[in-house]
Amino acid sequence: MDDRTRLIRAGGAPKSLVKTVGPPIQKGSTVLLPDAESLYDERNVTYGRQGLAAHQALCTALAEMEGAEGPGGVTLYPSGLAAITGALLALLKTGDEVLVTDTIYKPTRRFCDKVLARYGVATTYFDPATSPEDLVAGASDKVRLILMESPGSLTFEMQDMARVAHLARARGILTAADNTWGAGLLFKPLEHGVDVSIQALTKYVGGHSDVFMGSVAARDPKVVRALNDGILHLGWAVSPEDAYQMLRGLRTLPTRLAAHDENALRVARWLQAQPEVAQIYHPALPGCPGHELWARDFTGACGLFTFALAPPGSERAVHAFLNSLKLFGLGFSWGGFESLAISCDPQLKDRKFRKTYAGPLIRLHVGLEDPEDLIADLKRGLDAYVGILF
Ligand SMILES: Cc1ncc(COP(=O)(O)O)c(C=O)c1O
Repeated sequence: MDDRTRLIRAGGAPKSLVKTVGPPIQKGSTVLLPDAESLYDERNVTYGRQGLAAHQALCTALAEMEGAEGPGGVTLYPSGLAAITGALLALLKTGDEVLVTDTIYKPTRRFCDKVLARYGVATTYFDPATSPEDLVAGASDKVRLILMESPGSLTFEMQDMARVAHLARARGILTAADNTWGAGLLFKPLEHGVDVSIQALTKYVGGHSDVFMGSVAARDPKVVRALNDGILHLGWAVSPEDAYQMLRGLRTLPTRLAAHDENALRVARWLQAQPEVAQIYHPALPGCPGHELWARDFTGACGLFTFALAPPGSERAVHAFLNSLKLFGLGFSWGGFESLAISCDPQLKDRKFRKTYAGPLIRLHVGLEDPEDLIADLKRGLDAYVGILF
């Protein structure tokens, strides 16, 4: 054969691979089928976008953690936000209404308002303090899905997701949870009757602030089918390198989460005793709002919580607090090994149910540093805050 032909065949995929701890990072758009009959056999992976070895390994592991209906019960998306928008697009149609908690992650709200509305899907925001009975009884006949996030973004309101799921099911309404805080481990939505469990793997599963991905897990065959069709129709895919990296993160997820939990509670307890702090919003801390629900349904907490600085606190004073931090980075993400802080109030303006909090809100992501070093950093911040106050 000519060199051109030989170079196209030479060194192709080996028949079998040596066994390593992780799956092979198999790269490919083309998938070679063994015979003509296999080409149109729907049981086969026939194209790389459907996911290869690393994707399948990640879906298998996530399905095991989430209690999904096998690896096919988990779909992967290029970001956490894409997982939320992908699930909504897959499950809703023109004329439907979706009920969304008012404390939802803000870009999800933007998608509902800007995109779902354009396709004739109405969004109604509800106060997460609404009782499950009132929420479900008050839903119109057009409501197809209830989207929850508990604890809620930035302000950490808890909702009885199990009860909402139970009541919604009786009315034929689907339920979904953005469970990024629970990381698929501390709370398992599917085991509590929620139909669709969504998470930004970008946060704790990745764990190192360097890769984006989202997942959706489900049990009901009809829902699983709709989610898989959604991916098929939208044409979204994630790279095998990223899938491998997520699987690697999953191996140490419980161990890292336990350390985040311990560090965050240590920091939260210290903050609670400071006169410059008015209130802690951390559901795992006894006495905090939502603690009873958290204790009933969650097996642990992560490193993310919010606290209110004691009022009055001008924007200048809040900035003095943030600007004097040396260990806490100022950044919007969370779930990585490093500690982060943001001010929250500018993000609360779009909410429909405006609540009064105890003072200006600061959200912390407590990383894996020594908590005593983090406390010293926060002390520096509080000193700067009281130095300005007005
Ligand atoms: C609660 C929640 N859900 C979803 C996302 C979106 O994840 P991603 O950044 O991977 O799109 C975030 C990101 O901050 C989040 O906080």
